[in-house]
Amino acid sequence: MKVLLTGATGYIGSAVTEHLAAAGHQVVALTRGAEPQPGRTWYAQRVGDTADPASLADAVTPEIEAVIHLAPPSGDEDVDTAVIEALAAPLRGTGRPFVYTSGVWVLGATGDAQEVGEEAPTDPIGIVGYRPRIEQRVLAEVAEGVRAVVVRPGIVYGRGGGIPAILVDRARGRGVPEYYGEEGVRWPTVHVDDLAELFVAAVARAEAGTVWHGVGEAAVPVRDLARAAGRAAGVLAVPLAVPVEQAAEVFGPLFADALALDQSVSGAAARTVLGWRPERPGAVEELVSGSYRPVEVFGAPDSPEADAEVAAIRRLVAEVEHARQNELVDRFLSLFRRQDPVWTTGHGKRLSGFDEIAAYTQKVLPGASAESTAVYDVERVLFLRPDVAAVNVRQQPVRPDGTRIAVRPEGRPCYLLVKEDGAWRIGAAQNTLVAD
Ligand SMILES: NC(=O)c1ccc[n+]([C@@H]2O[C@H](COP(=O)([O-])OP(=O)(O)OC[C@H]3O[C@@H](n4cnc5c(N)ncnc54)[C@H](OP(=O)(O)O)[C@@H]3O)[C@@H](O)[C@H]2O)c1
Repeated sequence: MKVLLTGATGYIGSAVTEHLAAAGHQVVALTRGAEPQPGRTWYAQRVGDTADPASLADAVTPEIEAVIHLAPPSGDEDVDTAVIEALAAPLRGTGRPFVYTSGVWVLGATGDAQEVGEEAPTDPIGIVGYRPRIEQRVLAEVAEGVRAVVVRPGIVYGRGGGIPAILVDRARGRGVPEYYGEEGVRWPTVHVDDLAELFVAAVARAEAGTVWHGVGEAAVPVRDLARAAGRAAGVLAVPLAVPVEQAAEVFGPLFADALALDQSVSGAAARTVLGWRPERPGAVEELVSGSYRPVEVFGAPDSPEADAEVAAIRRLVAEVEHARQNELVDRFLSLFRRQDPVWTTGHGKRLSGFDEIAAYTQKVLPGASAESTAVYDVERVLFLRPDVAAVNVRQQPVRPDGTRIAVRPEGRPCYLLVKEDGAWRIGAAQNTLVAD
């Protein structure tokens, strides 16, 4: 299909462009400026500005088979109503899809209700005050022969962007991770690539007049997100709860209220009815060991295949951390190759062969994490061969609550990993304590 996409240069729009193109669609990008944007998988580019709805009228030419409207609201209900009119009118009587992007904030605080579905009444917070009326205006196009659909994304994360990137920047700038409002606040979240796949599914097969929650995880505690954002920023500290009034001085009152909004929202309908499969890592995992903490990679071309190998290596190191923090002896040992591995501790004790590593682990790991443990972050990956990698890790001592133990030295382990039978394993590892 030829799909007109507004907001095509944006955070979500960039991912939607890629997934539409991968699914065989031709993306006609609506941009504010006419300058070409090399590297984008756009079929064509058209100029228009939602602040001037008349400028959109020419963009929806007869060969446009679908419209996805991702450009943000203007803040003026009349202008946004005129935008819907301009984009939808050329589709009338065609049965072609018009997908409008709203957001879960139209639901307001969900209170005691768990995993609220699309049938719930709207109760918008200030920042999206009139948006439910725009949703209704969009859905009214069904009567005019348009396959009008609304997608409401949760808080979007991934690709190092979105609102979670604000948490990372704030933690880095302030030296302490922070979240806003009450301790128990939860956000419905969605990975930007999973969300992009929902847009592709909605264009292909959502029925006229339907509303979909683009939510991968229904209710992620924001305190956990803040802690993970701190980790991404290299700040290992207890997250600070910032009162909304104080947050308003930084973000403005409307956005501060949105950040402090507690919601539990279900994305189950899209899974069941549209066959949507949000399978990317969850928001906390993505912050701790994904796109918010880039890794230096050498010896492999910049490619999706290399990205997948680096992700698998990061998962292995996350397993090392999990096994050590939770004193899981067998799990820890399962991460080694069986044949002649070698492990040298930070204090220079060399364990030669699987049996020596197993015996030592069984002796020292149980009870080791009662007062202190460590976090492990991959910093550099060198592919010596496609199936052999030297991995530099930063190992920081922490208390069981995740806060840094300042008086204990860091470790700088280097793991030599081998890929055997499709899985990365530790072949050799050498730790070095940082002396200065
Ligand atoms: N991010 C989230 O967590 C989230 C959650 C729920 C809902 N949403 C909704 O999803 C939509 C997209 O969000 P996003 O995070 O991708 O935003 P974004 O990164 O800020 O991107 C906005 C896009 O809209 C374009 N745009 C801005 N003003 C425009 C105008 N006057 N006319 C035409 N195009 C304009 C921008 O183009 P330029 O390159 O010209 O600036 C850019 O391509 C918004 O409606 C947002 O409310 C986002």
